[in-house]
Amino acid sequence: MSSVGEDAVGRIHRDHGRMMEMIDRIRAECGQRNTIQHCNDCHAPHRAVCQGNIDLLIRAFIEATMKHSLIESMFMEDRVPAAHRIAHNHAHMAISQQLKAIRVVLSEDGNYVQAIDGIDEIQETLLSHFRDFDQPLERYLNEAALMPQSG
Ligand SMILES: [Fe+2]
Ligand SMILES: [Fe+2]
Repeated sequence: MSSVGEDAVGRIHRDHGRMMEMIDRIRAECGQRNTIQHCNDCHAPHRAVCQGNIDLLIRAFIEATMKHSLIESMFMEDRVPAAHRIAHNHAHMAISQQLKAIRVVLSEDGNYVQAIDGIDEIQETLLSHFRDFDQPLERYLNEAALMPQSG
């Protein structure tokens, strides 16, 4: 029998795994990052195709990450101490600012090399976030699941 807490923690883990897979796929799309700073300098005949692919993959990653933050916020609503919830939601806002900056690079500069640099940075941020915020959240969710249900 699974509890609400286990379901929530399972969902968080699956999302994190998927987000990291998406990052790996994005990075795998560009083989020129060590040689050029901007897509304009890329002479690969497939440039437009790879830009299109990276664009779609990054937008999907941004959407998945924003949705994941929203779901965690819902899990937090009545099951964690206010201090954790406030700090955690604040950290999610900082992540969403970082994602928005990547979106600006896509829309305004069309420089996917730089956008992937942004993906490297957000990966670092996410890995620290998993450790500093999501692991404590998981502990609260597991504790909440052990408490007797009222009603
Ligand atoms: Fe989080
Ligand atoms: Fe998370």
